[in-house]
Amino acid sequence: MPRGVVHQTRGARDVSPLLSEFERAVAGFDRSAFEPRRLSAAAAAWARRASFEHASIAAFDRFALGLLAVGAPPELLEGAHVAAVEEIRHSRIGYALASLYGGEPLGPGPLDVSGALEGLGTLEELAVPALVEGCVGETLSAIEAEESHRRATEPAAKLALRIIADEEARHAEYAWAFVRWAVETERALAVPLRRALGESLDRVRLADPGHGCEEVPLVEFGFLPRADRLDLQRTAARDVLTPAAAALFL
Ligand SMILES: [Fe+2]
Ligand SMILES: [Fe+2]
Repeated sequence: MPRGVVHQTRGARDVSPLLSEFERAVAGFDRSAFEPRRLSAAAAAWARRASFEHASIAAFDRFALGLLAVGAPPELLEGAHVAAVEEIRHSRIGYALASLYGGEPLGPGPLDVSGALEGLGTLEELAVPALVEGCVGETLSAIEAEESHRRATEPAAKLALRIIADEEARHAEYAWAFVRWAVETERALAVPLRRALGESLDRVRLADPGHGCEEVPLVEFGFLPRADRLDLQRTAARDVLTPAAAALFL
């Protein structure tokens, strides 16, 4: 067999030491140190984040089927499946925190996946959403998770965000690798991709900071104030996404 035909599986990073630390932090959580209204706000915020993480499992599963439909190489297939498993971890961690802060067990319900396979089959149908949700969305969410981790002080939330930030950064890298492959495979894709990227970056630049601030500040539980989050996203769009996109479309 020629060398290099079978690649090393891009396995998930071993996060078991961090997960053990997370479990210890959950076990040592002291409810009496927080006001009840702050705990319920933190529970609701983590439940919401967990539901997005849970939906990301379906997004990567759907994406993996789309990769099969366009004959993508095995290393891209591996990356999609590894990412789906990591999203399962984020969903579990998120619901664990929502349960911890809310004081009652909480988990995902049935997810409506009807019509999930519609719009799969061409490389463009796969690449445009991958650029918007993967390259842009995952890059921004990795940067936001990193900053949320840095500012969080509740130990379980801080550890959760350490795990999530690292893995979201890998998902972003994966999305850029996929889009690079898609453009190399079909040069004409550069046109719709460039347009989709421009629209995404405009949405980031023009996002409305809104009035006032959140009712309950939740920085210690891993949530940035909206204005800080938008500032971070604008800086990332300018300093990270724009140069990365320029390199991609050269
Ligand atoms: Fe995630
Ligand atoms: Fe992700």
